[in-house]
Amino acid sequence: MLHWFEPGKFPLYLAPMAGFTDMGFRTLCKEMGADVLVSEFVLADAVVRGDFKVWNQIQFSDSQRPMGIQIFGSEPEIMARAAEKIVRRLQPDFIDLNFGCPARKVTCKNAGSSLLRDLPLLAAICKSVVEAVPDYPVTAKIRIGWDDDSLVAVEVGQWIESVGIRALAIHGRTRMQGYRGDANWEIIHRTAQAVSIPVIGNGSRQNGYDVRALRSEFGVSGLMVGRAALGNPWIFSQIKAEIRDGQPNTPIPTLEDRWEAVLRYAGIMRRHYAHLPPRALLGKLKPRLVVFFKEFKGARKVRDRLSRLDRLEGLLELKNTKAR
Ligand SMILES: Cc1cc2nc3c(=O)[nH]c(=O)nc-3n(C[C@H](O)[C@H](O)[C@H](O)COP(=O)(O)O)c2cc1C
Repeated sequence: MLHWFEPGKFPLYLAPMAGFTDMGFRTLCKEMGADVLVSEFVLADAVVRGDFKVWNQIQFSDSQRPMGIQIFGSEPEIMARAAEKIVRRLQPDFIDLNFGCPARKVTCKNAGSSLLRDLPLLAAICKSVVEAVPDYPVTAKIRIGWDDDSLVAVEVGQWIESVGIRALAIHGRTRMQGYRGDANWEIIHRTAQAVSIPVIGNGSRQNGYDVRALRSEFGVSGLMVGRAALGNPWIFSQIKAEIRDGQPNTPIPTLEDRWEAVLRYAGIMRRHYAHLPPRALLGKLKPRLVVFFKEFKGARKVRDRLSRLDRLEGLLELKNTKAR
């Protein structure tokens, strides 16, 4: 059993989100109570080729453990070689396989959610990776199916359990649904009942997370939080407070809290991406920082100013301008 699922535990995962769940953001989420982190997905071929950018993307610090590295691809052999290389070099706590990405550039190569239409190949990938890293946990993340006519989560769960996958995260939407609408937690529930590996539920519900109901009503062993965490790492401490006290009791972050988080985030990223020219780093950071300034009066003004920033040092000045 993976130690973060031991009896009495209900781990909160930060969902992998390409372009957001980088070294800096993962650090903030961990400090705010996220229990398990997963890297954004990386192409198995690029890992095998030794692409510097990709290796930089999946690095993590020990304080981020338990930490998983997520890979995607469509060839069992390449996926297995990528997993081996990652394990040898980084020794993450688990390797996670992506079977959920809806992007056309991924599905047209028969990777990501496209594999939900080819279960024998999906299972062959799982088996090949599990056999390549026999002492390491391998987990998977899926959507509930390609479209409403092919809801395969239960079947996928059973297949992958039989080839040695140790935990399954389910995003309760179909590929065709994209990120729209409510997630289908009934199917997540049915899958959790049909397998004995831990199932992690994912897909924000319209009324927020009724966290106490998740375990009892839907039978999941953990919760994975995606977009609700963007610009809002505090959500993890809020959910934990809700689990502990039965109601949310953490105050909404102040503007000062947001600035503190943003400056810390930028500092971590500046160190991690020290090899990048300052302008490139700023370009990478802006969309990741603006999301911290939303849903309060004056947020748009801050976002506009942030978008116009022409050097990273200007962040502190911007903060102080705001404070005056
Ligand atoms: C910007 C963005 C990037 C994402 N990148 C990944 C990824 O790299 N790997 C993955 O498995 N899922 C990815 N997802 C899907 C999320 O992990 C999650 O399953 C989805 O957002 C549903 O959860 P939510 O409703 O809580 O946001 C991404 C989602 C978003 C919005």
